[in-house]
Amino acid sequence: MSTHTSKTAFLTGASSGIGQALAPELAARGYDLVLAARRIDSLEQVKQDIAARFPQRRVEVRALDVTRYADVQSTIAAAAEENGGLDLIIANAGIGSTSAIGHGNFDADRAVIETNVLGAMATIEAAVALFRRQNRGQIVVISSVAAFRGLPGAGSYSASKAAIAVFADAARAELHGTPIRVTTLFPGYIDTPINQDMKSRPFLIGVDKGARIIADLIERGVQTSTVPVYPWNMVGKLLRVLPTGVLVKSAKGAMPGGN
Ligand SMILES: NC(=O)c1ccc[n+]([C@@H]2O[C@H](COP(=O)([O-])OP(=O)(O)OC[C@H]3O[C@@H](n4cnc5c(N)ncnc54)[C@H](OP(=O)(O)O)[C@@H]3O)[C@@H](O)[C@H]2O)c1
Repeated sequence: MSTHTSKTAFLTGASSGIGQALAPELAARGYDLVLAARRIDSLEQVKQDIAARFPQRRVEVRALDVTRYADVQSTIAAAAEENGGLDLIIANAGIGSTSAIGHGNFDADRAVIETNVLGAMATIEAAVALFRRQNRGQIVVISSVAAFRGLPGAGSYSASKAAIAVFADAARAELHGTPIRVTTLFPGYIDTPINQDMKSRPFLIGVDKGARIIADLIERGVQTSTVPVYPWNMVGKLLRVLPTGVLVKSAKGAMPGGN
């Protein structure tokens, strides 16, 4: 059991992509880390990389499938116990969807909802319970610009990211007036395995840049933001009101498989 002298962040989906890049970014900013995902070997690699660059930071890895909802609760509770509490919990784990509606892809759609909605809700549920006991903490939810409009070829993904953003809104309202913050981030295209087979990725940014922007927004304690802020703050608004025909034309190639 450590004394609570440094900040500790718990991050789901730390084995790849945004989570993998955000972990060292948070280490550089003084956070000790608890890294969770299903692929423990990849987490160990992330841990080794951080240990080499930031030997003063404590990094712990935990195998966790966020669709095992009871495990989410017990893993966060155990991580808090071992680290003298947690300061930051990031619900980042997520999967993409490549399925058009009505083509027999319901199982894939269900998996998207189970991971991106129920897995993230389980994470937020455990985080709020812990942070209410601590009377401090920040919850970060990684939604997506896909939440702003049901994108063709990504119906379940868009629905999942809208659902979790709205759930986070409710958490923020319930926690209003407490020291507990809820930050919801809406990334555009960040170069990771989740979108690497898409033919078109508008306004793409590299994953290290994305991680830096995300860490800045977390440190500022914003309530909501796109990532990067510009141009997605403008494009996001536009996405909501584009006529369907224009949306379909502009979305060509931007969905997995380049529909
Ligand atoms: N990259 C983008 O352009 C972009 C844009 C908007 C939003 N996002 C969101 O950002 C988050 C991270 O995505 P990414 O781009 O970094 O993709 P990624 O490289 O595919 O990483 C996804 C991460 O989620 C974890 N994960 C998936 N299912 C899980 C489960 N059932 N239990 C625990 N962990 C699970 C994966 O770990 P394991 O497989 O080891 O479990 C992996 O670490 C996702 O929520 C994604 O929707 C990404």
